[in-house]
Amino acid sequence: MNFKWNNPTPVTAINTCSLKEQSALLDEFQDGWEHPFLIIDSEVRRLWDRQMQPAILSASGLYVMEAREVLKNTFTLSRIWDSMSAAEIHRDTPVTVIGGGLVCDIGAMAASTYLRGLRLMLVPTTLLCMVDACLGGKTGVNLAGVKNQVGTYNPAGNILIAPDFLDTLPEREFKSGIAEIIKTALIGDRSIKELLERMDIKNPDKNSILEIIRKCLEVKGGIVAEDLRENGKRMLLNLGHTIGHALESASEFQLSHGEAVGLGLIGEAALAVSRGGNRDLPGEIEHMLKQAGLPTGINEMVSVEKLSQLSQLFNKDKKTRRDGRIWALPFDWCDCRLTHFTPDQEETLLPGIMSLLKV
Ligand SMILES: NC(=O)c1ccc[n+]([C@@H]2O[C@H](COP(=O)([O-])OP(=O)(O)OC[C@H]3O[C@@H](n4cnc5c(N)ncnc54)[C@H](O)[C@@H]3O)[C@@H](O)[C@H]2O)c1
Repeated sequence: MNFKWNNPTPVTAINTCSLKEQSALLDEFQDGWEHPFLIIDSEVRRLWDRQMQPAILSASGLYVMEAREVLKNTFTLSRIWDSMSAAEIHRDTPVTVIGGGLVCDIGAMAASTYLRGLRLMLVPTTLLCMVDACLGGKTGVNLAGVKNQVGTYNPAGNILIAPDFLDTLPEREFKSGIAEIIKTALIGDRSIKELLERMDIKNPDKNSILEIIRKCLEVKGGIVAEDLRENGKRMLLNLGHTIGHALESASEFQLSHGEAVGLGLIGEAALAVSRGGNRDLPGEIEHMLKQAGLPTGINEMVSVEKLSQLSQLFNKDKKTRRDGRIWALPFDWCDCRLTHFTPDQEETLLPGIMSLLKV
């Protein structure tokens, strides 16, 4: 079942494929995408060895990496560049990254910087990456424990969605993707919430997942097409991420990205209530996260000491300006607003918000 979707962004082609045939991936490397430099998540390479082999044999070079946040750094990036150099790839060699958001982020950054930019194909293998990270061109690595502190905008020319990869995805990672799906439903499409509520999370059916992926990419693609470099509307996509990124870093990456974003959604909905947002929304989000088996409190994942340093982490957030911060806040379903808070306002409100999450 291969079909082309309406492109939500003008620069990116999105196709789907099944992995039943051993050569399925290789068959997709056509029309200028042949013989790529491959960057692959080591776990995906191990679990999907049969499908990886033909693709690897045809590749111009290969870098296999472990998907761990502590390795998403400039050191690994430099090792990928070295490997590209050793493979003697050229300006017309495409780069294909096969993995979750982490490997896609760093692989896309290598592609956008080596030889000042190579064409990029992304093959997301986690739910989170299929519904969100693969689209929109943000690349990045962490610096000094702070998420995605260094990065570029480099939209993939080609995205290949193969939902079969989800067959091997650990349950915790699948649930992480659901947090980003709830975020997208909040931003721009309530029908995604209804699809999610109907989906059997323990035994999800591929067609409903594909429908959810398509809708999420349409919402994100529509926003990114208007504002690739995040000068305005795209900031809405940071919903849940201001608190989420700070908690993810503060937990020293014990919380997964999706788990942290889920908690961020509850906290930021509570912050919206302070400006007149729907009072029921934090509870509704909490209920949806619980239904999906996602955490709704930070428990022992973040130490008291780290919690007290959260304001320093907030200050390193890329949305911080000299006169405060712009938050993307959910006032209601499909009513998210960019909202400015001064440092004094945050200082008054945030302790109460964070204590809500200390369950
Ligand atoms: N660029 C963006 O727009 C964007 C958006 C959201 C998140 N992100 C980034 O994405 C990262 C999180 O990505 P993620 O949630 O996709 O997880 P991930 O890439 O960290 O992968 C999570 C785990 O799942 C494993 N895995 C991946 N695919 C698998 C499969 N098919 N079967 C079995 N195991 C598999 C990995 O090896 C890893 O152990 C964070 O670094 C975050 O900052 C980027």
